[in-house]
Amino acid sequence: MSTRTSIHGAWSGRLAFILAATGSAVGLGNIWKFPYITGENGGGAFVLIYLICIACIGIPIMMAEVMLGRRGRQSPINTMQALAEEASASPYWKYLGWSGVVAGLLILSYYSVIAGWALAYVFRTASGVFTNVTGDGASSLFGRFIADPEKLLAWHTLFMVMTMAVVARGVKGGLEKAVRFLMPTLFVILIILLGYAMNLGEFSRGVAFLFNPDFSKISADGVLSAMGHAFFTLSLGMGAIMVYGSYLPANVSIAKTSIIIAVMDTLVALVAGLIIFPIVFANGLEPGAGPGLIFQTLPIAFGHMPGGEFFGTLFFVLLVFAAWTSSISLIEPAVAWLVENRGHTRVYAAVVMGIVTWSLGLLTVLSFNLWSDFKPLSGISVFENSTLFDLLDYLTANIMLPIGGLLIAIFVSRIMTSDITMRELNIQDSQHAGYRTWQFLTKYIAPAAVVIVFLKVTGIFDITVIFNAILG
Ligand code: PFF
Repeated sequence: MSTRTSIHGAWSGRLAFILAATGSAVGLGNIWKFPYITGENGGGAFVLIYLICIACIGIPIMMAEVMLGRRGRQSPINTMQALAEEASASPYWKYLGWSGVVAGLLILSYYSVIAGWALAYVFRTASGVFTNVTGDGASSLFGRFIADPEKLLAWHTLFMVMTMAVVARGVKGGLEKAVRFLMPTLFVILIILLGYAMNLGEFSRGVAFLFNPDFSKISADGVLSAMGHAFFTLSLGMGAIMVYGSYLPANVSIAKTSIIIAVMDTLVALVAGLIIFPIVFANGLEPGAGPGLIFQTLPIAFGHMPGGEFFGTLFFVLLVFAAWTSSISLIEPAVAWLVENRGHTRVYAAVVMGIVTWSLGLLTVLSFNLWSDFKPLSGISVFENSTLFDLLDYLTANIMLPIGGLLIAIFVSRIMTSDITMRELNIQDSQHAGYRTWQFLTKYIAPAAVVIVFLKVTGIFDITVIFNAILG
């Protein structure tokens, strides 16, 4: 094990790390994004590719990130610099840390706006506006809400202040305690909603939509979205899990904890899908409705079920908390770096990074109203209808995170010695089957998958040629 220690403190133990990392992983990505991008990409085939990416790319890269963080014990930028030095590799590896910091701030800039929607919906649900609402009613309420930039800005501001407040205090004090209570409660509410969805009559259509793969419905870009989402939902490729790993006690098993986190994250996403699609079909809504999907569907469920005001309010409260425990991990790499390299206090660092992110968030706020017709890359066919928000999402989730993940996989499998990686994974025998699998996945499969998908999307390389060759 490395003998470094982190100047920022440490988690109190394995459970605290699991909760914090699960808190980072489980967020808007699972409950808001997974259902709507699944809807946009035609369902089952997308879900299957996403699940394969989680297992073959996500889990090995999560192990890699935790390992790098725990060995480096610093912000991702300084960790990459220290570990590159240790391996006598190029100092340019620190730019991998930099790209993570930038990706984190870009993601948080739009993440906070959507979390603001969830905050607004806490109060809307509590006030009873959704009682007996119809599908059209819920859609028009949502449409009017996002058309108002001042409202979106106010909620975005509130959410950024909440994020800054926690990060300023340090992760351990408030957060560790909060997630311990919140994550289980979120699970319970999801199960209650699942019970509601199961009784809707359209449950089997929802199940079929999620689990019957129809590959004719998926494009190369859909495959890229599935892979990008695997990184996004597990918080990989930008140093969030790395920075959390840097606070991890030395004796915790990296493989086991990574698998637990990935499984919990996947379960939450699938349950969210099983709740939302039956409601979509039962109310004649469009699965491809886009980012507003859960805000247009769930209010219908809450508006009709007994105790809906209560459960609905609780649900959006929990969604806010899920987003909150993710947003702090999005900004933590930048904050840790400012503290380490510039000697600022956490409070100062959190405020500076918060203001930068808040300002960037204006681009997303305006994308839904005043600038909704501004499609800067409309000349390129995949971006024909993309607003600034869509482009930010695409750039981070589909490009920056997979490239970050690719480089992380290369670093642990080709730059670090197996001596060190075996020690960090607590493996004595280099022929250990689990270790060999991990090495194979990080050395060949994960990098190849990312490269092939990129080539395919850019049209340089046609993967169907390989499929056809294999299938005869
Ligand atoms: N994993 C979070 C979610 O699914 O909502 C989003 C996220 C957090 C992405 C942290 C990336 C990250 F580093």
